Amino acid sequence: MDTSQGKLDGKVALVTGGSRGIGRAVALRLAAEGAFVAVHYGSDADAAKRTVADIEKAGGSAVAIQARFGEDGAVDRLFDALVRELDGRGLDILVNNAGIASASPAAALTPDELDRLLKVNVSAPFFVTQRATPLLNDGGRIINMGSVASRMAVSVQIGYTLTKAALESLTPTLANDLGRRGITVNTVAPGAIRTDMTAGYFAIPEAAAGLASITALGRLGEPEDVSDVVGFLAGPDARYITGQTIDVSGGTWLGPIVPSA
Ligand SMILES: NC(=O)c1ccc[n+]([C@@H]2O[C@H](COP(=O)([O-])OP(=O)(O)OC[C@H]3O[C@@H](n4cnc5c(N)ncnc54)[C@H](OP(=O)(O)O)[C@@H]3O)[C@@H](O)[C@H]2O)c1
Repeated sequence: MDTSQGKLDGKVALVTGGSRGIGRAVALRLAAEGAFVAVHYGSDADAAKRTVADIEKAGGSAVAIQARFGEDGAVDRLFDALVRELDGRGLDILVNNAGIASASPAAALTPDELDRLLKVNVSAPFFVTQRATPLLNDGGRIINMGSVASRMAVSVQIGYTLTKAALESLTPTLANDLGRRGITVNTVAPGAIRTDMTAGYFAIPEAAAGLASITALGRLGEPEDVSDVVGFLAGPDARYITGQTIDVSGGTWLGPIVPSA
């Protein structure tokens, strides 16, 4: 990896949930463009260390920061550590990626499960953004990880879906609030992407084939399909895009795929 002329040289990024899956791919991509990346994680320290080591092996620089969202004081602990690492520098890129899934239909969703989903998928990114905003340099970027699920019916993911719709709903208001500082705010909405989160679905051939069959591009996604879009939004070429949700689902559920006669 040649980071000598990256589009993000000198930039500082925080990627929540940057240790595994989509977040890991985002962290690698931003580092490959020259950014210093704070790789946040919740509990899997080995995965975070691996991501940092892979970034460093490729010539980039990164640090791992632990804070388990959903626990009292987690966002404060994240920012205490981040501010120490920044040592007076500002932040340029915030990727609100950390999230958890749910597999309960409406009839089975319990108050405890919904509460946990809301804490990790909505409250945490909201308060992370609140804490990050004063640290963000003018011209910065906020990218929220939504989901195609907020625009299609997936009955076994109703709790997850409503948290992703809530996160997505932050984007236009934040974009208006921060636009005069040149800070853009966008949501990236992936479809089914091969990560630990979806390993169960991907392991069932009929489930994977069923999802691929309602996807215009005819295949499920890889983390890099998403991280390339985040890399674009984080970079200078995306300076005039804000308040948007960018679907990165390969065209999932655009409508029936009707074979020609
Ligand atoms: N995979 C998909 O098909 C898909 C589709 C649409 C949207 N998304 C969204 O994309 C994001 C990443 O998903 P993924 O598939 O990459 O998930 P993943 O492989 O399960 O990775 C989740 C990441 O979030 C962190 N995390 C989870 N719970 C946390 C908590 N309570 N506190 C702090 N960190 C926590 C994990 O760190 P630890 O392991 O250390 O806890 C890990 O780094 C999520 O917001 C997800 O909703 C995924």
